[in-house]
Amino acid sequence: MKLTGNTVLITGGSSGIGLELAGRFIKSGNKVIITGRDANKLKQAKVHLGSVLVTIKSDVGRPGDVDSLYKKISKDFGNLNVLINNAGIMRTINLHNHKDKPEQLTKELDIDLKGPIGMVDRFLPLLKKNPDPVIVNVSSGLAFVPLPISPIYCAAKAALHSYTLSLRVQLQSAGIRVFELAPPATRTELLGEFSEDDMKGVSIMPLADMVDVAMKGFEKDDFEIRPGQANQLHFMSRLAPDFILKQMSKPVERLLASS
Ligand SMILES: NC(=O)c1ccc[n+]([C@@H]2O[C@H](COP(=O)([O-])OP(=O)(O)OC[C@H]3O[C@@H](n4cnc5c(N)ncnc54)[C@H](OP(=O)(O)O)[C@@H]3O)[C@@H](O)[C@H]2O)c1
Repeated sequence: MKLTGNTVLITGGSSGIGLELAGRFIKSGNKVIITGRDANKLKQAKVHLGSVLVTIKSDVGRPGDVDSLYKKISKDFGNLNVLINNAGIMRTINLHNHKDKPEQLTKELDIDLKGPIGMVDRFLPLLKKNPDPVIVNVSSGLAFVPLPISPIYCAAKAALHSYTLSLRVQLQSAGIRVFELAPPATRTELLGEFSEDDMKGVSIMPLADMVDVAMKGFEKDDFEIRPGQANQLHFMSRLAPDFILKQMSKPVERLLASS
């Protein structure tokens, strides 16, 4: 994809990977709009990246918010040609003993899976109208092998990976390029609730390095970008699936003992 002259919408752009991507796209001459749920975080992002950044409060897990966002963007930024579905949450969940109501238990499905699907559905007509349309779905290395302490997150990301494969095929004839960015463990707020023990043996990629790989991948039309250990997880899921699942299962004992 071309890296300049686009109008880019990034969901969940107020911290971490989304914010870093927003900065890169602004720097290389693109109009950038970000969303998030927390108005204060959006305000901070604007302080960080300057008044050229457009921020809109919107929750991808709420179809009503997606609809209002679409109406606002099509009115104010009708030349939108790049949609980056980045917003996501990740929790550890003890399936024996969780305290969530059923609708809370499956929150990652609403935000990390149904969020991107709903965004694509709503924004497709607008993307189709504009030159060089692109969709990027941010999945995870955990789409290829689950981390069993985060079962719902990994199920959502595996499904997002599968959906992205189908989406790419279906949109090809319409000239829409569909990328998947599958980050490895990357230093952001998302990893906040994970202990050092959970992360044993995992090398956490610096955010700037991960986004360097992502930007190069976009530029080269590498449609499935798997930086760092995400590529190893992908490889191991094919070469030695039982072995890698066993490795990823080590923190389960601690989770079950602690909750
Ligand atoms: N960091 C990693 O190790 C890693 C690895 C693989 C994949 N990923 C994926 O990368 C993406 C970005 O994560 P990150 O690491 O950058 O985490 P982060 O720093 O926590 O950023 C998540 C962003 O998403 C927003 N968000 C969360 N729920 C939302 C919702 N319902 N609607 C709109 N915005 C929402 C957050 O803002 P608000 O809370 O204000 O809404 C924030 O801006 C996620 O999809 C994550 O699964 C991350």
